[in-house]
Amino acid sequence: MPPQRFPPIAANLPSLWHGGDYNPDQWLDRTDIIDEDFRLFELAQINTVSLAIFAWSRLEPREGHYTFDWLDRLIDRCAERRIAVVLATPSGAKPNWMAARYPEIRRVTPDGRREPQQRRHNHCFTSPVYREKVVAINSRLAERYGRHPALALWHLSNEYGGECHCPLCKAAFRDWLRRRYGTLDQLNAAWWTAFWSHTFTDWEEVDAIDPTVCGMALDWRRFTSDQTVDFMRVESAPLKAAFPHVPVTTNLMGFYEGLDYWRLAQALDIVSWDNYPGYHDRPDNERLAAHVGFAHDLNRSLKNRPFLMMESSPSVSNWMPINRLFRPGVHRLKSLQAVAHGSDSVQYFQLRKGRGCSEQFHGAVIDHVGHERTRVFAEVAQVGEDLRRLAPVRGCATPAEVALVFDWEARWALRNAQGPSDLAKRYEEWTAAHHASFWRMGVNTDVLNGDGDPAPYRLLIAPSLYLLRAGFAARVEAFVQAGGVFVATWLTGIVDESTLSFLGGWPGPLRRVLGVWAEEIDYLYPDETNALVFSDANPLGLTGRHPARHVCDLIHAESAEEVATYADDFYAGRPALTVNRLGAGRAWYLAAWPEQDFLDALYRRLAADLNLRRALAADLPDGVTAQWRTDGERDFVFVSNFVREARIVDVGAPARDLLTDRTVAGPVTLPPRGLLVLERMPVRMQ
Ligand code: GLA
Ligand code: ZN
Repeated sequence: MPPQRFPPIAANLPSLWHGGDYNPDQWLDRTDIIDEDFRLFELAQINTVSLAIFAWSRLEPREGHYTFDWLDRLIDRCAERRIAVVLATPSGAKPNWMAARYPEIRRVTPDGRREPQQRRHNHCFTSPVYREKVVAINSRLAERYGRHPALALWHLSNEYGGECHCPLCKAAFRDWLRRRYGTLDQLNAAWWTAFWSHTFTDWEEVDAIDPTVCGMALDWRRFTSDQTVDFMRVESAPLKAAFPHVPVTTNLMGFYEGLDYWRLAQALDIVSWDNYPGYHDRPDNERLAAHVGFAHDLNRSLKNRPFLMMESSPSVSNWMPINRLFRPGVHRLKSLQAVAHGSDSVQYFQLRKGRGCSEQFHGAVIDHVGHERTRVFAEVAQVGEDLRRLAPVRGCATPAEVALVFDWEARWALRNAQGPSDLAKRYEEWTAAHHASFWRMGVNTDVLNGDGDPAPYRLLIAPSLYLLRAGFAARVEAFVQAGGVFVATWLTGIVDESTLSFLGGWPGPLRRVLGVWAEEIDYLYPDETNALVFSDANPLGLTGRHPARHVCDLIHAESAEEVATYADDFYAGRPALTVNRLGAGRAWYLAAWPEQDFLDALYRRLAADLNLRRALAADLPDGVTAQWRTDGERDFVFVSNFVREARIVDVGAPARDLLTDRTVAGPVTLPPRGLLVLERMPVRMQ
């Protein structure tokens, strides 16, 4: 894909977005405060507000009785001030009157208990009553505001999540299964139900979700995602019917395990997510920063275009065990980190801090003190100024030559498998470790689903892809034949999409491309290690002994060549890292879980062999990362220091730093938590 500049998400906001959740519905009797808010928004260069996310009881205080006058006034005021509105549908929190009158809209837990009306995000997404109520309010919102000049984006509900075990959801699950399998014979075969005498003879027998029936447990997760998407489509239908050009998003939650975000993304025009990293100068800060970078890359990759950071805290959170303050400079660093990875916004929860209830101490742009003379406000205003300076970055692509597979179905299937140790089930952490190597080199990385196409990439990494989708192996084989480099690891290619084990040896259909047979898997106790030892004259040119933890896969190199072997135990001397040549490419198999520096060394070597484009030519010091975006005519290189010590970075040829408008060249000192955004002529990728 040639680099390009994507069109603005909304025509009425053609710059980077700066704003966030704004809940004036909690302040309707304080017009003085709302007046003050708009004054302060201007000072911080706030150009968007997200409205009415939890305002259902203000919009429909009694059944069928709607009150929009307050929202009319607010949205008109936003239009006057040229503030774009992200308008939410209110389904994230149901009104008390509705929950009392229609108990079916309240969720049911796995043990069959209907939840009381409390908290939020706990409606049944199948209930026809809830769907009807949602359509009724959403239709009115669409009718009233769909052509309002301030409207930029619809925000569906809030942080969809969880599952419901009510009779309506169970019936919908059975319908879903009928569509998937057609016959009970097919279902019984896919779920291997002769085991423990769980053969289904009537669809109605499908009721409690049995984790020991692995296929059922996986299908329930798929169903929950599909049913959430179905609910989303019901929500967005009235919005789209009236005004198809207004885009629709919902705020995702990073690597949230409960929903397959690849499926959700298909029902969205724009991906957005809520980002709450605890950057508190702890020893793991760098690892956390890399992990957050991975989450940004995932969100960009879900639709392969710029995304929005819909929420982040301008200061503390209220839900961490210890809610530390962000040190000065952290707010700016984490805000621009999102933009570096492809976000076209920095948005907050929330703009004005509420007076009561559980979030009254959560950070906000405007604190209870009510004026702008706070540290947090000054830092937010600084980010507003930064975003103004970074305007040319808006819509720029973030091209990548590396793709990392992150597959919810494989993750769910592995999570539910009985046998692999809990340590081996840390799919997110293990995948993030591979990503971190590229983050540390300053190499852009995309994320790919297990049904995705690796053809546009040069390096494809699939850490522990326990479940393989039909066609994955064939796509990988074509990719490698054509010159691509593929890396797989332990616990790959174990089961098919029904969670049935592949017959004929692991890694199943990938055995030919990887050239290995994995015969057994050894799970280590937490305090144990084995080690990998490089063979003499190995193609990586690496040496020494490298600790390995948690998992050791006992493999046979068939057509593959041994690169490193195990040091200890009865399998000492057997292969632990192999490479197979196939066509014009190579396929690597890493049989154990090594430490980060091993992965870094491996990927430094592969990146050099492939001549992968790095954001900066020079090596980056520890704690520093770099990403680049481009419109094809100019590149924008973000260089960020995530540690509390200064770092010297060689930026190479002279370039303008957009944040300061100064030209920098060669070795530059990045202050603690400092960053640069360099504008350069584009460098061609191979
Ligand atoms: C989530 C929610 C917000 C708010 C914040 C607090 O992201 O979407 O409504 O509760 O958390 O951190
Ligand atoms: Zn339900």
